[in-house]
Amino acid sequence: MYTGRGDALASNFMAVANQNPNTTLDAAIEELLAKARQAAIHSYAPYSGFRVGAAIRLKNGAIVVGTNVENVSYGLTICAERSALVSAVSQFGPAIRIEAVAVVNLNNAASPPCGACRQMLSEFVLPDAPVVFPSADGQRIMPFSELLPLAFDMKLK
Ligand code: THU
Repeated sequence: MYTGRGDALASNFMAVANQNPNTTLDAAIEELLAKARQAAIHSYAPYSGFRVGAAIRLKNGAIVVGTNVENVSYGLTICAERSALVSAVSQFGPAIRIEAVAVVNLNNAASPPCGACRQMLSEFVLPDAPVVFPSADGQRIMPFSELLPLAFDMKLK
């Protein structure tokens, strides 16, 4: 029987994106962050006001960006990370491999990629790919496999 933390939600106990902030990022990651920041300027976020940009570096050397595009039917909103992903597949096809991911927002808030984006990325990203995102105290960087250790997969018997 679960006797843990009462009715408090998991989100209250998440390793909030403010632990171990990483301050020294290499030049390639800095370039990715700059591209993500540019993309965030294009955000369409009239409902939340939260403007997000993502940039992914592919094994073929390309950098592809995305931003969040909201809709008045709120659930139809697409996040910046998935925007970048679908753009990359559209441009280069389904064999792409993602080597690095950068996320920024223009709201000065922590924003690790949401669960849906992690799941979508998992089909194209290398497990060791660094994912950098804003934490409360600066950028945090971690390998994708730590961000989503147990992605859904479907192996029918
Ligand atoms: N959003 C992203 O673009 N990426 C995420 O990983 C989390 C949330 C967007 C979706 C929505 O437009 C706004 O942020 C507020 O949730």
